[in-house]
Amino acid sequence: MLERIDVHNHLLPNLDDGCSSSVDSFECITALRSAGYRRLFLTPHTGPTDMCSIHPEESQRHFNLFVHSARLAGLDTEFRLGGEVRLSPELLKMRDLSLAVTYGVTSRFCLVDIWEPDWPQWAQDIIDWLMANGRQVILAHPERMAVMQNDPMLMDRLTRQGVWFQGNLGPLGGSEPKSVRILAERFLREGRYFMLGTDCHRPSQLPARLAGLRRAEEILGKAAIQRLTFGNPLAIWNAC
Ligand SMILES: [Fe+2]
Repeated sequence: MLERIDVHNHLLPNLDDGCSSSVDSFECITALRSAGYRRLFLTPHTGPTDMCSIHPEESQRHFNLFVHSARLAGLDTEFRLGGEVRLSPELLKMRDLSLAVTYGVTSRFCLVDIWEPDWPQWAQDIIDWLMANGRQVILAHPERMAVMQNDPMLMDRLTRQGVWFQGNLGPLGGSEPKSVRILAERFLREGRYFMLGTDCHRPSQLPARLAGLRRAEEILGKAAIQRLTFGNPLAIWNAC
């Protein structure tokens, strides 16, 4: 069994729009364990706005309690806290780096998401600010962003700036409309992704994620997908 590290999920229960109970969370973790995921970064939505208004300190409290309960339940998966930082004008106004939580909290690797239909100047300004402050910005699931469909050059511009990309397994396994799957497959073939994550929120999403893993291996081969689901994530894990 190949070992893997998940870099994006919402399995920390009762916090965001992810798992609503420890039971659901344990079910996901056990299933992912069977697929080789022995280490998980738990990445709840975070930031100063909307549904993402979860402060990193609140995530940390939930994380500590959850890890304790997972040990009591006999799970031997290793966990580290991270977050999925929602880019917003509010974040730019506050310029509070502690809100831009990173993998392991202490590393420089920062997973961000944004759902704007275009690419506003404030989004570019936040990324500039994060990079200038030593953060390695990793943009989550670009294949799901309408702006990536509408502005094919955006990914090139961000890549030149040093931004990395995290792809979701779900679209590769059929969880999204066909246009998203096609874009995900294209990004995968073009080597755009630094890593792949499940972005799993609940047990019902597991089949598509695991199907996406198999599809990714069909497209690029096992060795390449091992790099995107273990080798590259391990570099982040070891930097925490
Ligand atoms: Fe997510």
